[in-house]
Amino acid sequence: MSTSTVAENKHKEAQDFMPINGTDYLELYVSNSKQAAHYYKTAFGFKSLAYKGLETGSRDFESYVVEQDKIRLVLTSPLKSGTDVGRHIDKHGDGVKVTALWVDDATYAYNEAMKRGAKSYMEPKTEEDEHGKVVSSGIYAYGEVVHIFVERKNYNGTFLPGYQKWESDYQPTSTGLKFVDHMVGNVNEGKMNYWVDFYANVMGFKQIMSFDDKDISTDYTALMSKVMSNGNGRIKFPINEPAPGMKKSQVDEYLEFYEGEGVQHIAVATDDIVKTVSDLKSRGVEFLSIPTTYYDVLTERVGEIDEDIESLRRLGILVDRDDEGYLLQIFTKTVQARPTMFFEIIQRKGATSFGKGNFKALFEAIEREQELRGTL
Ligand code: FE2
Repeated sequence: MSTSTVAENKHKEAQDFMPINGTDYLELYVSNSKQAAHYYKTAFGFKSLAYKGLETGSRDFESYVVEQDKIRLVLTSPLKSGTDVGRHIDKHGDGVKVTALWVDDATYAYNEAMKRGAKSYMEPKTEEDEHGKVVSSGIYAYGEVVHIFVERKNYNGTFLPGYQKWESDYQPTSTGLKFVDHMVGNVNEGKMNYWVDFYANVMGFKQIMSFDDKDISTDYTALMSKVMSNGNGRIKFPINEPAPGMKKSQVDEYLEFYEGEGVQHIAVATDDIVKTVSDLKSRGVEFLSIPTTYYDVLTERVGEIDEDIESLRRLGILVDRDDEGYLLQIFTKTVQARPTMFFEIIQRKGATSFGKGNFKALFEAIEREQELRGTL
């Protein structure tokens, strides 16, 4: 290794003042946590992991935690009126409240973020049970979304102190979902760069990609997006803002129905998208459909791929290529009453990008849904 490389690496390490090991969990505030947990188990193949509620001494809130490989979803509902969780649900409908980030030192992460201008959500606190202790702290991000830093190196319990193991006789088989690949936020018009700067300055993230309205537009709608990533690339947060178009864009629709900024989609990775999507469809998960003409020119556009094009066409899976390889992806319809959050299923075969070549086909598919809702 040359001297300059050593110096560069040292510099990089010094810059990565916010080392993050990965996504720890995502917490959704939902109107019926018990039924939501059943939905994620039945439809998406998650398994019961942990529970907190009246039986565990939690008088105000009930949370069900479901797990699939490295993905953990916490589904929380209030047990009485007048809570902040209830207010959140009344305003936004069901949606992501917490993106928890797994760190080695939650106090250090909090102090570094605060020093750089973060707004505090929760000062570092230590919770303990017979399995050890967990330190957590939190800061605000866009909208009402928060990032909680979780330090669990001294903990070997099921999930977190305060939760008990959720024993269930019903544990559906996995659909092959492995980890959170990226999580996209929708922010207000003119605010994308503000939040890009937030992730750069407060959390030390780097911008790894940017799309303007020329990349992401159809005859009717447009949006702009920049992708922020932490040092080791395990956390990727694209940030979208609406761009002026002839009609209301999907980001506008989201902002209107969510009544503010929030998480638009959670992309989860699989090693076998054909199998995963077949499985999800058979369990009732609904996906955006793409005109079959998309596949007529697919090989021309992306070159040779390992997958059988007929299977992709049947399932509506999209393909895109970049300099490093290709990726396969598909988007669910929105998953709650309001047309707000949805999931993406993604399989990367070398590609590190986000499917720019599919934006047009994808947005036209979303517009067909918007048309049906009368919100275009
Ligand atoms: Fe995505």
